Amino acid sequence: MSNSFQFPILTAEEAANLIQNGDILGFSGFTPAGAPKEVSKALAARAEAFHAQGQEFKVGVYTGASTGDSTDGVLARANAISFRTPYQSNKDLRNSLNSPDGARYFDMHLSELAQDMRYGFLPKPNWAVIEVCDINNDGEAVLTSGVGISPTIARLADKVIIELNERHPKSLRGIHDIYEPADPPYRKEIPIYKPSDRAGSPILKIDPKKIAGVVITNRKDEVGGFTTPDEITSRIGKHVVEFLTGELRAGRIPASFLPIQSGVGNIANAVMAELGESKEIPAFEMYTEVIQDSVIGLMKEGRVKFASGCSLTVTDPVLQEVYDNMDFFHDKLVLRPEEISNNPELVRRMGLITINTALEADIYGNINSTHVLGTKMMNGLGGSGDFTRNAYISIYTTPSTAKGGAISSIVPMVSHIDHSEHSVKVLVTEHGVADLRGKNPRERAELIIENCVDPSYRPMLRDYLKLTGGKGQTPHSLAACFGMHRTFAETGDMRNTDWSKF
Ligand code: COA
Repeated sequence: MSNSFQFPILTAEEAANLIQNGDILGFSGFTPAGAPKEVSKALAARAEAFHAQGQEFKVGVYTGASTGDSTDGVLARANAISFRTPYQSNKDLRNSLNSPDGARYFDMHLSELAQDMRYGFLPKPNWAVIEVCDINNDGEAVLTSGVGISPTIARLADKVIIELNERHPKSLRGIHDIYEPADPPYRKEIPIYKPSDRAGSPILKIDPKKIAGVVITNRKDEVGGFTTPDEITSRIGKHVVEFLTGELRAGRIPASFLPIQSGVGNIANAVMAELGESKEIPAFEMYTEVIQDSVIGLMKEGRVKFASGCSLTVTDPVLQEVYDNMDFFHDKLVLRPEEISNNPELVRRMGLITINTALEADIYGNINSTHVLGTKMMNGLGGSGDFTRNAYISIYTTPSTAKGGAISSIVPMVSHIDHSEHSVKVLVTEHGVADLRGKNPRERAELIIENCVDPSYRPMLRDYLKLTGGKGQTPHSLAACFGMHRTFAETGDMRNTDWSKF
């Protein structure tokens, strides 16, 4: 493909001027990888100009997942978002959606967004803004470092604006596998049986009649760096590896191992580092959402044989390294739409070992991934539910405390539930592992308190169990189950909890 296409070349401002108050936009990419960077910024400026004249200007925004500051950040600061789904992790957008008059946010399982748009459960986008590294006159496009919901928004939207990002090489062609399932009652099995299988096309076909114009850019993905594993995250990683090694020895995981899904962030990176160092765990494959720096490092060392994901969410030097060595990486990486990277059918079929991070867990194994102290949205559940519910073994990791020990991450009852006790098989903190399989709620509570809770909170949680009188299938005191949260709200420290007050 070449750049001699027929579509008008637009400045970002010209493209943004096509978008009107009340329009609904779908953005390409997944995390900052592959997200638009120019049109969204110009759109924020357009909204600010309208607001300065006392006029309303807001748009609805669908994305693959989180984005970069040039998408969510600028639009949130311009107060230009009417609704937003399915996931975000931007500080300014977080502030907006947590305020009653801010953006309307609904937190969704990522695998469901594209189909919910097709089913008509959610309003159809007027515009798709899609970052590509190559496109021809027939609308055959090569996406960049993230796929997200691009195939669906390209098809559903009335009009498409292309951001042609020349920073991404055209040699990316072949790394994507674009496949959109048919809707019920015509859906067939998705023909992927192992992470390296391909079901679709390397090209995203966009109806050329819908392409309103092309904005040319050269801006990098806004992927933040990771901190190197610290003592806590390393210990969590070591416990995960000890657990998986035990499962291998016991024959509960096949000797050839199973594909790994690993969540985002610093704990995920530390877990990957420990998996990479293990002498007993064989070289493995990943079927995951986000391919982070650590995966690329392990690929070079031969520890990760193949990675299927929705995005290459790697720091700029690592992305450059991948691009400079496409011959090496081409047959080891595939990027898919999130409907496929996170597909429950495939997670169950391939038997994924899933590792995600909790904000808060309770003594019975319920998980809160999203709401700080039950009310304030942190990011969203992302793909964690897609993977957890369907995993071969679902593992949750969390440091046992937060805010310097003033918060115990393990409480009597989670203040918000994202993943229930029925889906969560294993809980890991820096203190150890609670294997919850085949345990009843009382046994789960004992295990979690002894193995995972910080020693400074163990007596408090044992006292809570005594307070319940041990009655019922899942012993609770409805008067006291949020006592630790209430104490934190009143005194700033859960360690002050006095059960006699509840
Ligand atoms: N109660 C209140 N606050 C808590 C808390 C608790 N139980 N546990 C942690 N926190 C606070 C931390 O102190 C920190 O606040 P700060 O930034 O003001 O210091 C914040 O919550 C989370 O810390 P962060 O460093 O962002 O943690 P992380 O990078 O390990 O992310 C999640 C943890 C849960 C927020 C993140 O993994 C997430 O969004 N998960 C849901 C989506 C997901 O699982 N995606 C992957 C699926 S493929």
